[in-house]
Amino acid sequence: MSSVFVSRPLPAPGTAPLVAAGIEVEQHHHDRPPTRDELIAGLRGKQALLCLLTERIDADVLDAAPELRVVANLAVGYDNVDVAAATARGVVVTNTPDVLTDATAELTWALILSAARRVIEGDALVRAGRWTGWSPTQLLGTSLTGKTLGIFGMGKIGAAVARRARAFSMSVVYTNRSRNEAVEAELGARPASFDELLDVSDVLTLHAPSTPQTHHVIDEAALARLRPGAILVNTARGLLVDEAALVRALRARRLAAAGLDVYEREPALEAGLTELDNVVLLPHLGSATAEARAAMVELCCRNIVAVLAGEPPLTPVGPVAPKP
Ligand code: DGY
Repeated sequence: MSSVFVSRPLPAPGTAPLVAAGIEVEQHHHDRPPTRDELIAGLRGKQALLCLLTERIDADVLDAAPELRVVANLAVGYDNVDVAAATARGVVVTNTPDVLTDATAELTWALILSAARRVIEGDALVRAGRWTGWSPTQLLGTSLTGKTLGIFGMGKIGAAVARRARAFSMSVVYTNRSRNEAVEAELGARPASFDELLDVSDVLTLHAPSTPQTHHVIDEAALARLRPGAILVNTARGLLVDEAALVRALRARRLAAAGLDVYEREPALEAGLTELDNVVLLPHLGSATAEARAAMVELCCRNIVAVLAGEPPLTPVGPVAPKP
């Protein structure tokens, strides 16, 4: 009988699809990441791992699990997994693309709107009983209508964010590794160099994976180049932004505001971030809808069942050269 280690309690459907396929399940039952030792102990004798972005799956972990055949990561991003090390050991890695695209795009817009219209500050004012009535000067935000939305990373999530920009009559400019002609044709999005993206964006939103090439792509110089009063939103990965430089730019009001769902050292925050009133801070909720999470869990389970049955995985990452 094949067996799987599941590194966290899961939302519905949970491990039911694995159990239904006759796979034995051992699960980490605490709502915190397993320690390294717990992860390695859990993997002992297992052929499959269902893990989260909070687990670092590197060569040492893989070497401690010689029977492992598949790592199913419950996320579209997989920077937590050493894919090359897994592939070299004949371990298939899978992720959860597509099923969380709309949920993440929706949350991106929640951040854009909250940052532009100072929603959190307004809510805090009312709750604190400090609202003294309508005022023509109170909490003035930034209009989105007719402005330019800059998108760094025009993959599926970037495109879903761009599609929703039409509702706000925003024009879309993007930077991507390669041209996305389908999005240009569908939405009139315009490709631009990174420098031009910084120059023209009223709102800049990040949708690229975390790689050595994208590390701190939004650094001090990039922040200085953004238009005064621009808004930065990040629902991709924290390492794309130099958080210390962002704190300085927000404190100096060079940027009007930022909306962050991801951080450089989650769950730790850069010093000074929580003291700023012009940043909206969410706890990595991009895919956090019941619908998206159910589909992500289902997809992970289907990938595991397929690989353990000797079939091709549905959503592999990198080359698939499974163990015989
Ligand atoms: C992902 O899928 O990469 C998100 O960050 C978590 O849903």
